[in-house]
Amino acid sequence: MNNFNLYVPTRILFGQGQIAGIAKQVPAGARVLVTYGGGSVLANGVMAQVREALGERLVAEFGGIEPNPDYATLMRAVALGREQAIDFVLAVGGGSVADGSKFIVAAMPYEGDPWELLTGQGKVKSAVPLGVVLTLAATGSEMNSGAVISRRETGDKLYFGSEKVFPRFAVLDPSTLFSLPPRQTANGVVDAFVHTVEQYLTYPVNAKVQDRMAEGLLLTLIEEGPKVLEQPGDYDARANVMWAATMALNGYLGAGVPQDWSTHMLGHEITAVHGLDHAQTLAIVLPAMLAARRAPKRAKLLQYAERVWGLREGSEDARIDAAIAATRAFFERMGVPTKLSGHAISEPRLDAILAKLQAHGMTQLGEHGDVTLDVSRAVLEAAV
Ligand code: NZQ
Ligand code: ZN
Repeated sequence: MNNFNLYVPTRILFGQGQIAGIAKQVPAGARVLVTYGGGSVLANGVMAQVREALGERLVAEFGGIEPNPDYATLMRAVALGREQAIDFVLAVGGGSVADGSKFIVAAMPYEGDPWELLTGQGKVKSAVPLGVVLTLAATGSEMNSGAVISRRETGDKLYFGSEKVFPRFAVLDPSTLFSLPPRQTANGVVDAFVHTVEQYLTYPVNAKVQDRMAEGLLLTLIEEGPKVLEQPGDYDARANVMWAATMALNGYLGAGVPQDWSTHMLGHEITAVHGLDHAQTLAIVLPAMLAARRAPKRAKLLQYAERVWGLREGSEDARIDAAIAATRAFFERMGVPTKLSGHAISEPRLDAILAKLQAHGMTQLGEHGDVTLDVSRAVLEAAV
């Protein structure tokens, strides 16, 4: 196992009725900015619970944070936050609202041009405290220190991370997920699955705890994923998927092990160029990525085949083929296509995607840094 330094400060309030608990988590005299997306939280009653829990506190609301949150939108929230002297931000929504709010809390006190926080030219020195009421189980943003922000004006989708933007608390009430459309439910399962894979399917470092936690999460998602699609109101299935998604990207799986993230980096560029949902891009890239890199991932692919898919018969190569095919079939069963052609993109803009990868310095991806632009091109061509 590799050395690690793990810091995970987010308090989790899990379960039905827990939104009321924010009354104790947000300081009594706080000036609160409540951020949300396109209105799902107004329709499903989550916002009403939030407003009630915040009681007499001074509250400003900022809605309209879009999926793949846009820099220009977020900068309007930053201006509102500064104008209202906001000292606590409460994000109510999915990963986009959580990520967008991480940017807002970092940008509010930032003295330079906040875009620098995304290009890496500027560092987060301080941030307004943040809490999250999560309504979409997928990204893990509710318990981690990262965020991905899009800038439609320039076609960029960039990651930033800082310990300062860890949510102070996150409320995970599985019943808030009942109103999710099937596409978002499925996206969430695929995203959590791929987060787990990108921290597990690399090469062995004898990290048994992390490996078995990863395998447990994958098995849970395979078992419960189809249930939440078929029975959207199944509380227990929703609870299992929700906690699995949080655990998949809250730092524990990736501590002390090599990490990959090449599927995510290609996926972000596909979203920026073609506008597909985050998880839709992952379902397209991952099977092709695993196939292209079966040699360096061989030992872990065999472990994955056996422990996750129960594949013990046949040659090693046949088991690896079957594990990749099972992964693809699982995404398809969740209703998420595994080829670009599944999204009626008549002309995939592979050159534009590769140019963005290059511009963002994504030319040595993967656990060995050997996913060059040529490898990325081959993966994309196999995913058309
Ligand atoms: O905007 P509203 O009206 O709220 O509707 C949203 C949105 O249209 C809807 N939704 C959310 N909760 C709902 C609901 N509809 C009905 N009932 C509910 N309970 O779902 C749609 C998608 O929401 P979004 O927040 O965009 O989805 P997700 O949680 O998948 O977040 C995706 C974003 O997170 C980033 C992605 O790149 C993407 O920008 N990621 C963030 C990560 C992180 N911070 O660690 C890691 C991930 O790999 C990912 O990159
Ligand atoms: Zn993801």
